[in-house]
Amino acid sequence: MKITVVGAGAIGATLAYRIADKDLADELVLVDIAKDLAIGQSLDIIQSIAYSGKTEVTAGDYSKSAGSDLVIISAGKPRSPGMARLDLMNTNKGIVGAVVKDVMANSPDTMIMTVTNPMDVMNYVAWKGSGLPRERVIGSGGQLDGSRFKCVLAGEFGVRPKDVEAYVLGEHGELQVPVFSNVKVNGKAVSFNDAQKEAIREKIRRSAMDVIEKKGATVFAPINTTTHMVEAIVNDTKALIPSSMVLDGEYGKRGVSLGVPVILGKDGIEEVLEWKLEPYERKIFDEAAEKLGGYCKTV
Ligand code: NAI
Repeated sequence: MKITVVGAGAIGATLAYRIADKDLADELVLVDIAKDLAIGQSLDIIQSIAYSGKTEVTAGDYSKSAGSDLVIISAGKPRSPGMARLDLMNTNKGIVGAVVKDVMANSPDTMIMTVTNPMDVMNYVAWKGSGLPRERVIGSGGQLDGSRFKCVLAGEFGVRPKDVEAYVLGEHGELQVPVFSNVKVNGKAVSFNDAQKEAIREKIRRSAMDVIEKKGATVFAPINTTTHMVEAIVNDTKALIPSSMVLDGEYGKRGVSLGVPVILGKDGIEEVLEWKLEPYERKIFDEAAEKLGGYCKTV
């Protein structure tokens, strides 16, 4: 398994470290326009796994990444305090578009995982630009939102996050869809009224900005959930992980990339689960499709 990470900043480098530390790749290549940064990160990772890992880690240009089985795109600007993810659109669409061209020229049979924000629209850009089947262009963010939903619910119910089962679909952004209808706390279904749903939704939406305002960037949570996705593909685990994909009739939508529950395995998205959303959830999902569908048309 050869994996390339494009963008060796906070997300890309930490993700690459995690992939190497977990022995998920035989070869791992870091690519960044800041060439020295990519080299420095690769050397640090090589030294970090000197007692344990098998992964051959390098840094360089796209020719070095040729023949990659999986390319993860985290190149581009991150949010500053006060910014919405969609504020990054104009800068990052050019970056992701250019990256995808270089990726496909060197790794035509690859799979792409999109991390750069606004992730859903960037995943659409990656799909459109790559010409790859939509099952092989996968956006990371849904499980991250799910982990934030779990943390908020754990606070509400006085349990540990790991004892909460909860999923988030829709936009990786303002119009995220917490699926209240299938939340389980310690294995038991729970119910919420609309006021509780709104209050919880607002807390989840704030979660990332709370981190950005205090430490400058979100890193550990996104790289952890992105690593789960990589693991599902590399080890063919068939894990259920909400991921963004270009929809073609699923959930009644087309021409937009949005978070839906999918089964991830060696072929990428191997199945899309059609959950019955409650009216409250369906309404937000439809708004997200409408809003992001408009952006997808323009990019
Ligand atoms: P960062 O600024 O630390 O790193 C970005 C890197 O991209 C820099 O090293 C930069 O040199 C590189 N880069 C810029 N243009 C490039 C190009 N054309 N080719 C190759 N490399 C290029 O930013 P960070 O914190 O790593 O975030 C990266 C992206 O990931 C941002 O858009 C951020 O919003 C997004 N993000 C997405 C999450 C998700 O769950 N989907 C979670 C957290 C961040």
